[in-house]
Amino acid sequence: MGTHLVLFRDVQGHAVALEDRCRHRNIPLSQGKVINGKIECPYHGWCYHADGNIAEIPANAHLSERVYPVGISSFHCVEQDDYVWVCLSNQPANPKPVPFPNYAESGWVSFHMKTRFNASVDACLENFLDCPHATYVHRGWFRSPTKKKVEATVRTLEDGAEVEYFEEPRVKSAVWSLLSSKKASMKHTDRFIAPATSTVDYVFSNNVHYKITSSCTPIEKNITEVYTVVTFKVKWFSHLVRLYFQPLSKLIIRQDVNILQAQADNVKKFSGEQFSVIETDVLYKLIKQWRLAMHSNHEPPIAGEERKIEISL
Ligand code: FES
Ligand SMILES: [Fe+2]
Repeated sequence: MGTHLVLFRDVQGHAVALEDRCRHRNIPLSQGKVINGKIECPYHGWCYHADGNIAEIPANAHLSERVYPVGISSFHCVEQDDYVWVCLSNQPANPKPVPFPNYAESGWVSFHMKTRFNASVDACLENFLDCPHATYVHRGWFRSPTKKKVEATVRTLEDGAEVEYFEEPRVKSAVWSLLSSKKASMKHTDRFIAPATSTVDYVFSNNVHYKITSSCTPIEKNITEVYTVVTFKVKWFSHLVRLYFQPLSKLIIRQDVNILQAQADNVKKFSGEQFSVIETDVLYKLIKQWRLAMHSNHEPPIAGEERKIEISL
């Protein structure tokens, strides 16, 4: 979001985020040193408290702190699920960041991915929650085209929207052939959680679960850093499953990076978007409406609405 931060820990071990710019000659404090929970600038050694106020100016050590210039901005931080979340407003974020479901719970195994997309947050969210693309972009890995008719229910929620798919085809899929029994039935739910999280949730009738949660951070308008946690629960050899699933997930997300790069390049070439939106672009409109409402302080889509659709996968 164009705000440059330095992150460190105070004496109690709490995460601290300050503007990454020394008040004196604007050197990035991230090139400095942390000393007893304060951060020291590498140029003339000005030292900052966790609240951004100046703690020490070595050349003026004979003066009292009270006569020092004003310090730098500090931002509220929350540590959750092994991530540090920084709120760029001067008020703490309310509600708290969306948790990564089942992360670090006993019986579940997780791994993290951090992926940079040359795409807007909207485009990333749509991609992560779009079922039909998997048949083409991830052909053979995740899904292969069968044109099987699948029923889906789309619901608007208090904090976003979801779509639930019933019995989608799993044939010729490298992921599902290894990770799920053919006999077990599968329920798949894609969910958008405002403002910038997607969850893809697979539950099998034999108590096997896979959840892919991605949180999108806008770096610039068309550059998004995506933090993904893949969490799963299998009956046995979960760490071996992870050895297989982790590189595979990286490969699959690379395919998404490439297709969204192609989209961005072409939108630029044609000087703007010209999209057709059809009924089976299931969550596209709801994501757009939500994000637009949040940007402009308008009411988001009303929760509790439900519709059924048919989609061929
Ligand atoms: S620039 Fe940071 S102390 Fe001078
Ligand atoms: Fe994808």
